[in-house]
Amino acid sequence: MKGTREFYNRTATDWAEYGYSSDADFQCCADFIGKLKKGSRVLDLCCGAGYDSGRIKAMGYEVVGIDFSEDSLRIAKEKNPTITFYNDNILNDYSYIGKVDALIVKAGLVHVETADLKIAFERMSKVLNYSGYIFVTIRDGLGKIPERSVSNIDGELYDRNFIAHTLEELITESENYFSFVEEVGFDGTVWRNYIFRKI
Ligand SMILES: C[S@@+](CC[C@H](N)C(=O)[O-])C[C@H]1O[C@@H](n2cnc3c(N)ncnc32)[C@H](O)[C@@H]1O
Repeated sequence: MKGTREFYNRTATDWAEYGYSSDADFQCCADFIGKLKKGSRVLDLCCGAGYDSGRIKAMGYEVVGIDFSEDSLRIAKEKNPTITFYNDNILNDYSYIGKVDALIVKAGLVHVETADLKIAFERMSKVLNYSGYIFVTIRDGLGKIPERSVSNIDGELYDRNFIAHTLEELITESENYFSFVEEVGFDGTVWRNYIFRKI
């Protein structure tokens, strides 16, 4: 069975088509970004094909992106030649990118096991400037969702390890690094957007 990275490599073109064709999923995040000082440096963590990175740049910010899917990053670089994208894992130490003023991680923690959330927050905290904010979009719930994890593409089985998290989990696992600020843009679905501030 192939894993998360292979899944996003195999489906990179489809996600790119979807992500570049509509900014509906970005609106709530755009409100968060719009409150930052113009020119602030923003990290798009788990940036996929770079559609949100491009939107943030167009709003007047400096952007860098990180993802571990090479095929998504290839598209991200083609579409956004002036943005720097790094191929790395959200659980690694990626502080070589330098400091950022804010960070978004939209639907990235859905692939992080609860046991690994703490290290993911520690990595985020390390690249953030003092009092920096993070915008987090997660799938609300508890634990792995098998029907959203496993798929068969052209006879090949993939398990992208799709994991729901609760706000309580996020608060507990981030407590040494972040304080919870507020929920934003609740639209009645299972997707939730939270803002945290580095402590
Ligand atoms: C559901 S997509 C979200 C893409 C984009 N942020 C959005 O909001 O549409 C999840 C992305 O996270 C990336 N990803 C998953 N686990 C990762 C990890 N451990 N390190 C880096 N990237 C990861 C995948 O390659 C994929 O591009």
